[in-house]
Amino acid sequence: MGQKKPKGLEAFESFYKEIYGARWDELRTALCSVKKVSALINPYSKESPKGDMLWDGVLEAPSFERPSGEPLNYYLLDAASVLCARALKASPEHKVLDMCAAPGGKSLAIQFQRKEGELVSNELSRDRRTRLRRVLDDYIPKELQENIRVTGFDATTWCLHEKEAFDRILLDAPCSSERHLLESPDKLVDWKGGRSKRLSKLQYSLLASATQVLRPGGRIVYSTCSISPLENDKVVERLFKKRPEGLKLVKEELLLGQQTEFGTIILPDKDGWGPLYIAIIEKEDV
Ligand SMILES: C[S@@+](CC[C@H](N)C(=O)[O-])C[C@H]1O[C@@H](n2cnc3c(N)ncnc32)[C@H](O)[C@@H]1O
Repeated sequence: MGQKKPKGLEAFESFYKEIYGARWDELRTALCSVKKVSALINPYSKESPKGDMLWDGVLEAPSFERPSGEPLNYYLLDAASVLCARALKASPEHKVLDMCAAPGGKSLAIQFQRKEGELVSNELSRDRRTRLRRVLDDYIPKELQENIRVTGFDATTWCLHEKEAFDRILLDAPCSSERHLLESPDKLVDWKGGRSKRLSKLQYSLLASATQVLRPGGRIVYSTCSISPLENDKVVERLFKKRPEGLKLVKEELLLGQQTEFGTIILPDKDGWGPLYIAIIEKEDV
């Protein structure tokens, strides 16, 4: 008879302690503390919100005044998410796919940066898709909405229907989201080490699908808010082991984070923002 695998908070703690060693206690404390938010300024709004500028178009300490009327003048999100969307380097002529888009912060960050251009924001969950549509409606003027399409496909199979169709793909994949687990300990009662491994399989299917949907010369940004290397570097490593043809890994300095073997990880104990893992993959032009 095999030994029963440990589960729950204890198993969670030992899983991450093994990965992060002496850093785990500080990282855990940072994950449990109040999440910082930045305000992404809506360039379509006539009235700019007031606050300390973090980067171009992003405020660190927003005032909470909103002008009446539409569109709303800022969207609150983790500053690391802005870097993630900007890593796509999308310009107005690019056709962009946000594969897992709800609630929509990164879709907005893409459009706010380039002001216009074709965007498909996809989300499998119907409820979350409703929220995504509302966010896009609230922040983007009606005359630019015709370039934005909200879809509800399972992105793992997108490649069966369409190939080499987009210049830029953001894959912000479903993940362990440990910060949220720590926020509601009841979700940790049944936690097992296999959870992260299971999610990494889904993430790999999504990424493999994205590589086929990407046009030559195009760029994918793969991201998760997980702190598990299984869902981050290991997913990208698997891609380059299994199907490297025509793909290249791009290493770029972002404004935050530490480099990992395949990407960058932004963690709240060192960076104040995140967690967010970001890897950049390009397809060679033919
Ligand atoms: C990390 S969240 C995306 C957050 C979003 N990018 C943002 O910044 O607001 C991942 C999303 O992927 C969706 N999802 C899960 N599996 C999917 C699939 N197979 N195809 C498309 N979306 C999926 C989830 O419902 C969830 O809303």
